[in-house]
Amino acid sequence: MDKIISLCKRRGFVFPGSEIYGGLQGFYDFGPLGVEMKNNLKKLWWNWMTKEHDNIVGIDGAIITNPKVWEASGHVKSFVDPLVECKKCHHRFKADDIIEQKCPDCGGPLTEPKVFNILVPTQLGIIEGEKTNAYLRGEACQTIYLNYKNVLDTTRLKIPFGICQIGKAFRNEVTPGNFLFRQREFEQWDLQWFCRPEEMERWFEYWKEERMNWYKSIFTHPENLGFYKHEKLAHYAKKAFDIEYTASPIGKEMEGIHWRGDWDLSGHSKYSGQDLSYTDSETNEKFIPNIVETSGGVDRTFLFLLLDAYAEEGERIVLKLNPKIAPYKVAVFPLLKNKPQLVELAKKIYGDLRKDFATVWDDRGNVGKRYYSQDEIGTPFCITVDFDSLEDGAVTVRDRDTMKQERIQISNLKSFLNQKLNF
Ligand code: GAP
Repeated sequence: MDKIISLCKRRGFVFPGSEIYGGLQGFYDFGPLGVEMKNNLKKLWWNWMTKEHDNIVGIDGAIITNPKVWEASGHVKSFVDPLVECKKCHHRFKADDIIEQKCPDCGGPLTEPKVFNILVPTQLGIIEGEKTNAYLRGEACQTIYLNYKNVLDTTRLKIPFGICQIGKAFRNEVTPGNFLFRQREFEQWDLQWFCRPEEMERWFEYWKEERMNWYKSIFTHPENLGFYKHEKLAHYAKKAFDIEYTASPIGKEMEGIHWRGDWDLSGHSKYSGQDLSYTDSETNEKFIPNIVETSGGVDRTFLFLLLDAYAEEGERIVLKLNPKIAPYKVAVFPLLKNKPQLVELAKKIYGDLRKDFATVWDDRGNVGKRYYSQDEIGTPFCITVDFDSLEDGAVTVRDRDTMKQERIQISNLKSFLNQKLNF
């Protein structure tokens, strides 16, 4: 973890939030490479959901909703963490994490557990005394439930169907930490699958397998992924599983597959007074759809992908990231930066490739150093323009994983890369 955190800072993947003011616990900013990688990841998820399934559509809901939403969802009452505090060093811990009844840091005595709500409150309005209280959303999925009827009314979807969303969530985590793993502001990718109550079992199993297969398709070592079965269930849930990154040195949970039944739509029907039932257009049967939820953490997936891709091979550090996720796909170098003919040809190739692939220019140091530098950020291919290129119209392409080099004609470069990158 320390090596990943240091690499993230050194190379511009992730920076501690508000660092020049001493930081703010549980908040991070994504740098130039991090934002590219995160966007690649979100695009893969989004395309898989909405383009590979013809009965799933997306929404992008507001961060702040009417506060009644969080009463209906049960978060105001039960989104709580029991906490204990050390009477000696005053450090706080989740009561669930305490094994022996003493402070894990200094061995001091602990207070009785106190309950804290972890919704992040905010105030709307500008006039003191007239401000209204609201919450930053504690989970992204609620706006999907709020818009389920709107989506039904504006599309031709029929049950079963899904609504997906990628968006921020905020929690006053008692113990933020472990880098991106437990933050106070983070991003979730959710699918809410609406189906008939009698078909829940089948769809639950279907989405459990589908989501696992998707994660397996993007990890470098898919054997490091597994399921964790929850024994302690929410009162409305019949089943809950986590997809875990089992090789994680910290927490392992990456995505939850939840049996939510009719809890959410029934709750919102009751609190809003609106009828959120579904009418089958063929049979006229009326019922509250049941929901299978797949709710994953974008930031946790990002972190686990880095942990999974990181390797030290002799002197080099290499991120063996899936090329679809790597921030850059190709780097282009002139062998020597003070030879105008080499630079001119390399610039032409660079300009041409960047129209189709995320491409980076590098002319610092020598070629060996540039390879190391690109390996460390996971760039799958490096292209060097040398003196022979001026004669034979070919360049040297070096593969990140095998370190093999081959000569490729410049005119064939795009088709070569398309084939290798499998785009
Ligand atoms: N709507 C269901 C829900 O929010 P959750 O298990 O609380 O379920 C889903 O959250 C996912 O969101 C988790 O599996 C995790 O990947 C991510 N997540 C939750 N809390 C997080 C935090 N404090 N920091 C980063 N990611 C978090």
